[in-house]
Amino acid sequence: MNEIKRTKVSHLLTRRDFGTEVLVKGWVRTRRGSKAVSFIALNDGSTIKNVQIVADLDRFDEELMKQITTGACISVRGTVVESIGSGQAVEIQASEIVLLGACPADYPMQKKGQTFEYMRQYAHMRLRTNTFGAVMRIRHNMAFAIHKFFHDRGFFYFHTPLITASDCEGAGQMFQVTTLDLNRVAKSGKVDYNEDFFGKPASLTVSGQLEGELGATALGAIYTFGPTFRAENSNTPRHLSEFWMIEPEISFMDLPELMDLEEEFIKYCVQWALDNCADDLEFLNSMIDKSLIERLRSVVNTEFVRLSYTEGIEILKKAISEGRKFEFPCEWGDDLASEHERYLVEEYFRKPVIMTHYPKAIKAFYMKIDEVNPVLEGKEMAQTVQGTDVLFPQIGEIIGGSVREEDYDKLMGEIESRGIPMKDMWWYLDTRRFGSCPHAGFGLGFERLILFVTGMQNIRDVIPFPRTPRSAEF
Ligand code: 4AD
Ligand code: MG
Repeated sequence: MNEIKRTKVSHLLTRRDFGTEVLVKGWVRTRRGSKAVSFIALNDGSTIKNVQIVADLDRFDEELMKQITTGACISVRGTVVESIGSGQAVEIQASEIVLLGACPADYPMQKKGQTFEYMRQYAHMRLRTNTFGAVMRIRHNMAFAIHKFFHDRGFFYFHTPLITASDCEGAGQMFQVTTLDLNRVAKSGKVDYNEDFFGKPASLTVSGQLEGELGATALGAIYTFGPTFRAENSNTPRHLSEFWMIEPEISFMDLPELMDLEEEFIKYCVQWALDNCADDLEFLNSMIDKSLIERLRSVVNTEFVRLSYTEGIEILKKAISEGRKFEFPCEWGDDLASEHERYLVEEYFRKPVIMTHYPKAIKAFYMKIDEVNPVLEGKEMAQTVQGTDVLFPQIGEIIGGSVREEDYDKLMGEIESRGIPMKDMWWYLDTRRFGSCPHAGFGLGFERLILFVTGMQNIRDVIPFPRTPRSAEF
């Protein structure tokens, strides 16, 4: 037989050249039919949609057909025919079927309608399901959109290190990186970092920002897009120990411009999904969350609220005085809990909120200090900083960012008063010593964006192989 090239299902379903011979390969989703004919729904991952294979049983070996079960991998040669019943415009009348990989009955994804908890135990196999296929295709599209957004605006993709010898960001607990033999260290009773690989303690990075600032103050505007690692023991549906972060950093940018960029960026990504992931979104909208597409459209079409922390506290305190109950207190100075953020976003404003001007004490050392202190109930409050958190419905904080303190002395003051070790900081401080410039940036949690765009409820279900406390199997 003459060789023909494999056609992807995504392409095949757009074809109308009935009678043409094609070759498709993929995994069997379902098989049904009668004694005379089998209908096989075949999926090859290129789209959420299956192509229907029609196999007249008198043409195929009975032993072969027995093995065409859910999950089996097959190759099918046949002709493109117009379909009447499959829900698609085309199907394939099979002339040759080859079994590439049989799939015995203990296939963990055999049954439909398993819970996501169940599927997490089979993270290596769940990718073959409709839901995870849809999520992973959207994830890819979001990564592509992010690169396009920044590239089109003249930002340079800048690679910051994953292994770092400084713990200055203070964004979270770090994973130590070492080649020391811990058993030997334990026996000797002391650690000699001179003997360690880098000659000093090293860790996995919690953020590329500080190195990103070095890039931005040279190239003008950069963005990072890579994995970050946080060893905090937070077992929530919104935290991972290993997650991907996008961190743009821009010279000469002020706070209003930063907020504009944050808002434009998120809207661009969501619009990209609406424009380029329609099939997968429709699937998720019907199976996971009936208001998903409506929510995505509404985010693209609304102006985000811009609200100072002090105004936010005022709103929350008013709600409490009117009887609204929260688990955690929220006095001026407290870090807002996710219940507070969600109240503002989901109940009070019913749209995304960019919150700014947080108390200095609850934010990172590098944030630019406001010139004027806020006043609440006639009382002057402590210093605030030009930090911005973007708060989203369902998600809570999706972006954290700020204008950076560019003044050497003020920055130094913060480093000293917070007891941040200077020996780790000299290279960062050099940006403020040599041609210091005003600049700003933010970090978007990639998986939190994917949570929002897919309507999935748990962050473990929007990354192929989630790392969380006590879980790194696959
Ligand atoms: O607010 P964070 O800690 O900010 C930074 O790391 C800054 N260096 C960013 C910057 O200004 N360049 O983290 C940024 C975002 C959060 O808003 C959240 O979306 C996400 O990263 N994030 C996490 N996502 C998943 N799991 C975790 N454990 C996360 N911690 C933060
Ligand atoms: Mg934050």
